[in-house]
Amino acid sequence: MAAYALEAEGISKFFPGVKALNNVSLRVRSGTVHALMGENGAGKSTLMKCLIGIYRPDHGVIRVNGVPVNFQDTLDALRCGISMIHQELNLVPEMTVAENIWLGREPIKYGLVDHGKLHAITRVLLSKLNIRLAPDRLVGELSIAAQQMVEIAKAVSWNADVVIMDEPTSALTEGEVAHLFTIIRDLRAQGKAIIYISHKMDEIFAITDEVSIFRDGAWVGSDHTTRFTRQSLITQMVGRELTQLFPKFNNAIGEEVLTVRNLSRHAVFHDINFSVRRGEILGVAGLVGAGRSEVMESLFGMSAIDSGEILIDGVLTRIDSPSTAIDKGMAFLTEDRKKSGLFLVLSVLENMSIVNMAQYSSKVGFISHVQMAKDCMAQIQRLNIKTPTMDQIINNLSGGNQQKVLIARWLLAQPKILILDEPTRGIDVGAKAEIYRLISELANRGVAIIMISSELPEIIGMSDRVMVMHEGRITGILNKEQASQETIMSLASE
Ligand SMILES: Nc1ncnc2c1ncn2[C@@H]1O[C@H](COP(=O)(O)OP(=O)(O)OP(=O)(O)O)[C@@H](O)[C@H]1O
Ligand SMILES: [Mg+2]
Repeated sequence: MAAYALEAEGISKFFPGVKALNNVSLRVRSGTVHALMGENGAGKSTLMKCLIGIYRPDHGVIRVNGVPVNFQDTLDALRCGISMIHQELNLVPEMTVAENIWLGREPIKYGLVDHGKLHAITRVLLSKLNIRLAPDRLVGELSIAAQQMVEIAKAVSWNADVVIMDEPTSALTEGEVAHLFTIIRDLRAQGKAIIYISHKMDEIFAITDEVSIFRDGAWVGSDHTTRFTRQSLITQMVGRELTQLFPKFNNAIGEEVLTVRNLSRHAVFHDINFSVRRGEILGVAGLVGAGRSEVMESLFGMSAIDSGEILIDGVLTRIDSPSTAIDKGMAFLTEDRKKSGLFLVLSVLENMSIVNMAQYSSKVGFISHVQMAKDCMAQIQRLNIKTPTMDQIINNLSGGNQQKVLIARWLLAQPKILILDEPTRGIDVGAKAEIYRLISELANRGVAIIMISSELPEIIGMSDRVMVMHEGRITGILNKEQASQETIMSLASE
């Protein structure tokens, strides 16, 4: 038996204008969980895509159980015992859970897909993993968290020796993360190697045995997880010390900007009452499925309400579409960036400016491209967005950098009310600190901010007040002093 389940040696990968990987190596032992860490754009996903046959490396060798391989495509890699959970969900919404998992290798009977057998093997797989989902549910109807669980089941179904997980928990809450960890421990006990990519420090220390760190496409170091501290890990990743994650701010809180009264939507949320003031950050906590995003989508005119009132600056306002909401001074960073945020075929510049066109248009209809480009450049520098030019197609950016472009868009919109749904999902620690600073700064300038987050430290570190939801209802609104981890958790699961 070879010493390593998987070895990558001297891998380089270049894209036009981008040195994504420069002579990096990685060795992963069987029966271990190996973490990959690094800032957004460091090259983690690119290396994984080389290992799974999506990209062909420009240089370097990959060995599986000591044997050099040269994958032509993903199927090749899967057959060699490497499977992967992708950073971006990769499922077909129009197909069922079972069809998605076994796509391309469905059991066949008399030349047709044997649906009985397909559902039976899916049921066995899901119950082995303790995932409670019906095999015949359409994937498009599932929550993002449930879709992520389908991805996990799919990766495991290949019975691979090496399972790559690229930010598998970004859409999961604590309970589901614990569930995934049980699955991972089980795989490890079976002698499989797991490559685990995450920006969440707690997870790295909870589940991984070894860590490899990358910076700007280069390998920085590898060691046992226990030899690192949180601080030493961050320092190696970022290349500098990072002292304060949550910036200190004492914003002056002004008059009420947004008032929500008795908002209800049948079977989704009920009797929602809250307000946000100028310069205030209202954190919104709760478990996935508590209805937090749904309330905000209704506020922003993305879905209708059955009853209730919305007041902006004390004036009763009807918001029937996102464009009305934008006109009224609202901005909304949605949680699912592919579904409702990013235009994948457009450039960084276009994605940033798309809702702000009015701002760049003169009265006679000319668009000031110069100003647009200047603002875009400033945001790229400010948020340290990794892109060769502002004309790069957004699909070519790393996941975290796509998120930064969306944040830049809403910063440029200069809203009165800013709603952020999981703003730092997939964002590295360094950039997180910068985003928190920007959010505080906006609050200081008088913007009313609503921030949904499943990360309690983020909620507690940033919010002036915390609103907690459970099963479509508000279970409490806490002020800064009352908002502890325990109080929030108990209200969230009430
Ligand atoms: N298909 C592509 N075309 C052009 N550039 C690309 C392509 N894929 C990745 N890149 C670039 O390669 C670099 C590494 O990206 P990669 O996705 O590997 O980063 P990452 O470490 O996974 O980051 P994140 O934590 O944000 O997911 C980035 O600068 C990215 O913009
Ligand atoms: Mg990535």
